[in-house]
Amino acid sequence: MERTVKKVKRIEGSLRVPSDKSISHRAIILPSLAEGESVVRNFLKAGDTLTTLNVYRKLGVDIEEKDDVIYVKGKGLDGLKEPEDILDMGNSGTTTRLTLGVLAGQDFFAALTGDDSLRRRPMKRVAEPLSQMGAKIDGRKDGNNLPLCIRGGKLKAISYYNSKMSAQVKSAILLAGLYAKGTTQVTEPIISRDHTEKMLNWMGANISTEFSPEGYTVKISHTDRLKPIHIDVPADPSSAAFFAAAAAIVPKSEIILKDVLVNPTRDGFFRKLKEMGADIEYKNKRDEAGEIVADIVVKYSDLKGVKVVKEEVPSMIDEIPLLAIVATQAEGETIITGAEELRVKESDRIKAVVENLRRLNIEVEELEDGMVIKGKQKVKGGVVDSYKDHRIAMGFSILGLVSEDGITIKDADCVYISYPDFFKHLEKVSQ
Ligand code: S3P
Repeated sequence: MERTVKKVKRIEGSLRVPSDKSISHRAIILPSLAEGESVVRNFLKAGDTLTTLNVYRKLGVDIEEKDDVIYVKGKGLDGLKEPEDILDMGNSGTTTRLTLGVLAGQDFFAALTGDDSLRRRPMKRVAEPLSQMGAKIDGRKDGNNLPLCIRGGKLKAISYYNSKMSAQVKSAILLAGLYAKGTTQVTEPIISRDHTEKMLNWMGANISTEFSPEGYTVKISHTDRLKPIHIDVPADPSSAAFFAAAAAIVPKSEIILKDVLVNPTRDGFFRKLKEMGADIEYKNKRDEAGEIVADIVVKYSDLKGVKVVKEEVPSMIDEIPLLAIVATQAEGETIITGAEELRVKESDRIKAVVENLRRLNIEVEELEDGMVIKGKQKVKGGVVDSYKDHRIAMGFSILGLVSEDGITIKDADCVYISYPDFFKHLEKVSQ
């Protein structure tokens, strides 16, 4: 499906964007391992998180939905069953990598595959540490690509340095660490999203965290049982970011984004947008079940170019393509470096942004680990490719709002992966 987004007069109104994707995945995966029933409110019903739900059903977990509330009847740490068929991980890297961590501790066989994009993405980053812990993993391209098979079993603890600052890698190792003999340790130079360790802590795992001069370390020891929990999933900052960006670049705009997760491991985009000069305010900041949530008000104002360096990347990893798009409308140059991980996301997001900007006659320089974007560029419009990547489709839709003739996005239905109502919401706030 193609979608064309045209110039608007302004962005105005209030939105509660869909619930957080990372927390929704974990709100199925971790409760599946608990003893008893967990209750999940405001679960994100979108492509990726429904994949997780289906996968855990195939692993024998009874997951029910009543009146928009999800009930996960946990099987306990050793109660999952061997799946009867190949598990389809769809487009979801988070489902795949976290589930490999869980499966590493199970005394059975499982085979995993996924869509064209997921089958290209690197899995050795989890397969290697999990193999060191004792799981037997093999797959295409020397165990780096799906289809991949795993036979779990007795695990031993490892100490792992998470140089890529990948939350999926950290989470996979921590989940396997629940089963391992000894204390498993993950250190990362800069903290990546910390939902797994927070949730495991609430559920009674033997887990601790600390900051030191080397960075951030999580330690987890063999755990006998996890308690079920009640979770109310806040709005996703990665989805809210699109509308914040829209209000920041369309003159005279003002938007209120309700109930957004502003955990500091996730809100780097909003902080960077503020540094660019955007008028952004967190209102009604509150603690909701251990996560910080706020209503974010964004008003249009003049923006200036900024630098993004490696240390800043983890807290805005999924928003960097959008930041590059916003930067085309700021005064002066924006330089993004240290973001090489973008090359192995749902698409090569550096290439996707650069090629699409060039299709629109917008100047950009491609770097191996980022890009340099010239500011205050005129957007005439044209046709771009989503590369079947939800965040690329939504990012270029936002640029369409300031284009002279509109931007047409090919394969725009991929927004379903994280934000099925994206275009409906965009229409709602467009004047
Ligand atoms: C995620 C972690 C990030 C992020 C992804 C979701 C998670 O990936 O890009 O969209 O829920 O743990 P990496 O761990 O590969 O950085």
